[in-house]
Amino acid sequence: MGAEVVIEGLTKSFGRQTIWRDVTLTLPPGEVSVMLGPSGTGKSVFLKSMIGLLKPDRGKCVINGVDIVRCSEHRLYETRKLFGVLFQDGALFGSMNLYDNVAFPLREHTKKSETEIRRIVLEKLEMTGLAGAEKKLPGEISGGMRKRAGLARALVLDPEIILVDEPDSGLDPVRTTYISQLFLDVNTQIDATFLIVTHNINLARTVPDNLGMLFRKELVMFGPREVLLTSEEPVVKQFLNGRMDGPIGMSEEKDSATIAAERAMFEAGHHAGGVEEIEGIPPQMQPAPGMPVRQGAIRRKDRVMQILHTLPPAAQQGIIDSLSPEEQARYGVHPRRRDQQPTWDQTVETAPVTGHHGQLPQDQIAQLPRTGGRRRSDQGPGGA
Ligand SMILES: Nc1ncnc2c1ncn2[C@@H]1O[C@H](COP(=O)(O)OP(=O)(O)O)[C@@H](O)[C@H]1O
Ligand SMILES: [Mg+2]
Repeated sequence: MGAEVVIEGLTKSFGRQTIWRDVTLTLPPGEVSVMLGPSGTGKSVFLKSMIGLLKPDRGKCVINGVDIVRCSEHRLYETRKLFGVLFQDGALFGSMNLYDNVAFPLREHTKKSETEIRRIVLEKLEMTGLAGAEKKLPGEISGGMRKRAGLARALVLDPEIILVDEPDSGLDPVRTTYISQLFLDVNTQIDATFLIVTHNINLARTVPDNLGMLFRKELVMFGPREVLLTSEEPVVKQFLNGRMDGPIGMSEEKDSATIAAERAMFEAGHHAGGVEEIEGIPPQMQPAPGMPVRQGAIRRKDRVMQILHTLPPAAQQGIIDSLSPEEQARYGVHPRRRDQQPTWDQTVETAPVTGHHGQLPQDQIAQLPRTGGRRRSDQGPGGA
């Protein structure tokens, strides 16, 4: 199972410019999480901070007991080996063929024989749908193939955590969906913890187990996908619908006068862009047929059901509705009628805490337990 990443109060600035502050969240082990955010909100800076390429000013980022913000260079070097990173452009060496690109980390960081390296490289190329393309140069293949090669290379050292920066950049919507399918399939096969940063709405709606959003130098929210997908928070709604109507502006956030002026314009009939408002929670993409069961999805279901009572009602409803009747019976929940709060039996309240927890969101969504032993069952949504 992939590693858990616990981030607390993380703050990063360059000189006097704060990029984001007090980011607190936990990436549950082996689950797929997506971080959304408009361009320039510091998503790439966030990924680089997680692997210690950039040094945050304050806060913690703890992986397997090591806080990479404060640890020694040696510890950082060791901890970095847990990560596989897929950079925005694939970051392949242009003069090396795909085989040598994918073999590079093995030749650089291990003492494996060329026979062993060959076995691993061909396995990862196969896994990413690139079997037979090993002699090609990066310049000879499509953008989608370059990204898959970048992923193959990120996989060769058996990472526990995979970070992906804007997998859709330069790809059409169909190729973006194919690469998303590949992430879910890889997650199923190796059970690594995934964090994908993107501003792609389709990907955010259909791929992750957990969804977060950075905006105005803060983590607006982070939690089970259903929380953001049913959120009434204006910035989240605006972003998920890709519209001009809302707090996010052309190059930065808008002031309240601009929001009001634009509101009047949209109310008078000017098209705010985006497609028609999408309501509800679309089904999550699944591993390809023939794949084993995704262990992260099973653990996630247990984890989310344990914190269900702390989530906003719309998210609770969506989660309960997504369960089969057998699962609803097993977890002791009942789909509610429109006029009711959801209900659950004692079995859910007293279920054993597995020690894996989700997120510590800021505002109106509930907090999840910080430690395995401590439950916050008495605090509903909005609890501190
Ligand atoms: N090494 C750096 N030095 C100074 N400023 C930087 C550096 N890297 C990024 N920034 C700034 O941090 C902000 C966030 O950048 P980035 O993380 O690339 O945004 P995103 O990936 O969300 O589009 C930008 O204003 C950018 O100019
Ligand atoms: Mg970026």
